[in-house]
Amino acid sequence: MFDSGFGGLTVARALIDLLPAEDLVYIGDTGRYPYGSKPLDDVHGYARELSQSLVDDFDVKAIVVACNTATASGLDDIRAELPVPIIDVIEPGARSLVRTTRTGRVGVIGTVGTMSSGAYVDAIARTGAPVHLALAACPGFVEFVERGQTTGDEVTVLAERLLAPVVDADVDALLLGCTHYPFLARTIGDVMGPGVTLVSSADETAFAAAARLGDLGLLRPPGSVGQHRFLSSGDVDSFRELGERLLGSEVGAAQRWPL
Ligand code: DGL
Repeated sequence: MFDSGFGGLTVARALIDLLPAEDLVYIGDTGRYPYGSKPLDDVHGYARELSQSLVDDFDVKAIVVACNTATASGLDDIRAELPVPIIDVIEPGARSLVRTTRTGRVGVIGTVGTMSSGAYVDAIARTGAPVHLALAACPGFVEFVERGQTTGDEVTVLAERLLAPVVDADVDALLLGCTHYPFLARTIGDVMGPGVTLVSSADETAFAAAARLGDLGLLRPPGSVGQHRFLSSGDVDSFRELGERLLGSEVGAAQRWPL
């Protein structure tokens, strides 16, 4: 699996918990983060390179694109080129969101790249659920997470400003459409209020990955113990340090993924 940085660790956590027998290779592309403010064509190029490396250098049997922006850049050609199944975060997140709402008023927040792509509008339309959708791009959230600053006045002030469109839309379910955002869930939850359920695509994506691997007969027998490797294209020491805080001590052994 890969992400621009630490965000995909939210999906890694869910995947490790659900499929403890599976080996996992996680690449955080911190050397090129953030993805959300970059042209989608550039992000698409990174997604292709990372996916190819997972197949060529690590011999993976499946790829989880643990990044909404990379998914929003379009995965069809990468899926067609590579010999392994590719699971993304957008379809599972959209399904979970429409299942969660009771009022039919839902919101999605994400990076500028994800929101401008229209990927969530399309994915929610594909569910066929008759919901009213409000969107908000949240530039700056990812940078706070990458600095390890997940609570405090600065985050709250930014959240109050950026979340205003989804607060005003009176949604009762809000999808965190960027894998970094679960790390800010406390602040986002406080700003949205107790009547709003936050939906993270992490668990849903792990379920989707498990189902796909099961359908293809690719799951390891229960009882095996999976090995987990973490790599970063940026500064490995800071990746280890913050990764340990966000996911756990395993990230302390992270290695470099050469750009
Ligand atoms: N975590 C990523 C996402 O889900 C990308 C964030 C970024 O690098 O801007 O969109």
